[in-house]
Formats: sequence, C-alpha cells, structure tokens
Amino acid sequence: MPDDIRTLFDETAIAARVEQMARDIAATDPQNLLVVAVLKGSFMFAADLVRAMHRVGLRPEMEFIHLSSYGAGTESREIRVLRDVESDVAGRDVILVDDILESGRTLAFARDRLTERGARSVHIAALLDKPMRRKSAISADYVGFDCPDRFVVGYGMDMGHKWRQLPFIGYVVQAPAADADV
Ligand code: IMP
Ligand code: MG
Repeated sequence: MPDDIRTLFDETAIAARVEQMARDIAATDPQNLLVVAVLKGSFMFAADLVRAMHRVGLRPEMEFIHLSSYGAGTESREIRVLRDVESDVAGRDVILVDDILESGRTLAFARDRLTERGARSVHIAALLDKPMRRKSAISADYVGFDCPDRFVVGYGMDMGHKWRQLPFIGYVVQAPAADADV
C-alpha cells in the first residue's frame, strides 16, 4: 500500500456493499434497465455494480456520459459534456451511477438531461455521499457509504489523475488542494 494513503473502505467492505446495492435495485423490478456511468470516476464502481446486478438476475444495458466541471470557485462551476449517452433512454428505467455525490451539481445535471429525454425513471446510485457539501436539492436513491468530509481516492477516484487504480477507497494524508476532475 502506498505509504501516504490511509484506507477508508477496504475491498471486502466495498464488495459487500456493492452486492447489497444490486439486490436493492433488483427489488424495485426495473424495466428495460439502462445503467449510465458518469466518467471517469465511476468506472470501477459501475463495472462491479453491473456484474453484481447480473448475479441477482438483472440484465442491464450500459452507457456512459463523460462530464467535467470547470470554472473558478465552487459556486461558479459549470458542467461540460465531453461525451454523451448514445442510446435512446425514452421510456426506460435508468440508474445513474457516480463515484461521489458532493455538491450534487454533476448528478443534478445528468439526471435532468436524461429526464428531458424521456426516461421513465432516473434513480441515482452513488458509491459515496458527502451530504455536508450539498449545493443542489438532490439525494441518492442508493448510497454505498457515507463519506467523511475528506478528499478520497482509489476505486476509480483520483487526485490530479493519480490513484484511480487502487482497489480500495482511501484518503491522502496531507492532501493538496482538491482536484475538480469528474
Ligand atoms: P459534485 O457533486 O458536482 O460536487 O461533483 C462530485 C464529483 O467531484 C465526483 O463525482 C468526483 O468526481 C469529484 N469529487 C468530489 N469529491 C471528491 C473526492 O474526495 N475525491 C475525488 N473526487 C471527488
Ligand atoms: Mg465523478
């Protein structure tokens, strides 16, 4: 383990939560299910979640949207679409998957976009929730873990493009300024 990273949620804990989230989603009996992963940070979580969904009998299709937020200061940040969903979402039950629900701006933007395109429902699965940072009126329907107010890395999440590959979620001791890459 890198010596400046402390473990917050280990592989075993993550795997157990992901399996439970898949069971919770399956219990709602979604129709024509489309999983939309928000790149880049959700790639590892989404990969595990769709496999867990398969194990509990769901047959989701998968899509990706790549968003980035930019602009100085958290209040003025805007969301830019770097790569959009290609599939038709009209009439479908959509699960929007992201790594962290923080201010909520990213997921509110993605949710509204899919709703405007006629999704039957849009539910949010966030691996981590930082409710103390919320700026938009949004909550996740499925949450992996409540996250302390720290900058976290690993399991897809980065700090300055580093640490996405870690198989666990950790935090950097003496972390520098937060990177806004989504
Ligand atoms: P927001 O909810 O629009 O503020 O955006 C949340 C996004 O910011 C997440 O999807 C992450 O990509 C990124 N982010 C927020 N907090 C962290 C963190 O602690 N580590 C890594 N990325 C983060
Ligand atoms: Mg993200």
